[in-house]
Amino acid sequence: MISRERIMEVLADYDIERVCVGVLGSHSALDVCDGAKEEGFKTLVVAEKGREKPYTKYFASREVNGLRKGVVDECIVLNKFADIMKESVQEDLRRRNTLFVPNRSFVVYTGVENVENVFEVPLVGSRDMLRIEDREREERNYYWLCEKAGIPVPPSYEPEDIDTLVMVKLPHAEMRLERGFFTARSSEEFREKAERLVRRGVIREEDLAEARIEKYIVGPVFNFDFFYSPLDDEIELLGVDWRFETNLDGVVRIPKTQELPEELREPLMIVVGHASATLRESLLNKVFPMAEKFVEASKQYFEAGIIGPFCLQTIVDADLNFWVYDVATRIGGGTNIHMNCGHPYGNTLFRTNMSSGRRLALEIKRAIEMDKLEKIVT
Ligand SMILES: Nc1ncnc2c1ncn2[C@@H]1O[C@H](COP(=O)(O)OP(=O)(O)O)[C@@H](O)[C@H]1O
Ligand SMILES: [Mg+2]
Repeated sequence: MISRERIMEVLADYDIERVCVGVLGSHSALDVCDGAKEEGFKTLVVAEKGREKPYTKYFASREVNGLRKGVVDECIVLNKFADIMKESVQEDLRRRNTLFVPNRSFVVYTGVENVENVFEVPLVGSRDMLRIEDREREERNYYWLCEKAGIPVPPSYEPEDIDTLVMVKLPHAEMRLERGFFTARSSEEFREKAERLVRRGVIREEDLAEARIEKYIVGPVFNFDFFYSPLDDEIELLGVDWRFETNLDGVVRIPKTQELPEELREPLMIVVGHASATLRESLLNKVFPMAEKFVEASKQYFEAGIIGPFCLQTIVDADLNFWVYDVATRIGGGTNIHMNCGHPYGNTLFRTNMSSGRRLALEIKRAIEMDKLEKIVT
């Protein structure tokens, strides 16, 4: 893990008046850039060749016949995202006084070991907590932390003990960043489906051993976009989102009487978009304590604890209990839904448009004003 001292050294060389907010060009980069612009920062996106156009062209900062448009001031286009780890690129980021906002794409495309040990650029967030999102590889993953914190997660099963409807979580065989999830309601069905999906090339045999098998919670999904301010020691709910997933969302709209071809019997759950939601107000009472417990536990088990945005992804069952099935220890993937317009909860709290990206930038701005940048970077 890159030490605190090293990051402080890097910061000491920064021109704090000219800090720029940097982010990998994917995931929630537009929300981050929009928020940073709103708070008066320069923005920098590190993009990958072939997928750079939204940042170099469509949302690039520019003036067209007197009209100001765009939120991305500068864009570094690399052959591969992973090239961001090259010393020359890091040097460039530091020279531009970059405070880098980690998103899931950054971790996945560059590798968590590199993020922890090679990337010597200040991260606005908690560097040592990024790895706990990897439920297959990590023992101390988010399930472990939630259990320590006393936050309910769906109970887990061994393949031979399945006696209820379960969700089996493992990566897709080919699209390694996507899901090869499937459901089963008995050990037999688990084996049958697993075999069929291996044969169809949807999942890999060797991934099955590491798969998380957990109770299928029947109910709506609410992903809570929280923000923890280390400067104020306060937890804020900014937004709630849920996801559009292909081809699942299409399949559930086909009448049950229609027989499906084999490839549609286990639909995929590839996230392709997000929607905003609000929660029945009386249930908010149950949601904040989960966030409080999470923040508390994060401070107990990790060096700095959670910093800034995090997302508790939940399903509510018929008894109105929340179950946390996933956690983002950085800005959530669904925050673009409230970019610029803000979100009902964030807006209500701040009496102005408050998205996750803007809240992040506001924290950076205040940390600089309070001379406490060390509290929000790792
Ligand atoms: N225990 C569960 N019960 C029912 N649905 C679940 C459960 N866990 C996950 N899901 C569904 O699968 C989707 C993806 O799950 P998640 O754990 O977030 O995977 P990933 O880490 O790939 O995002 C969720 O949005 C939710 O709809
Ligand atoms: Mg998820």
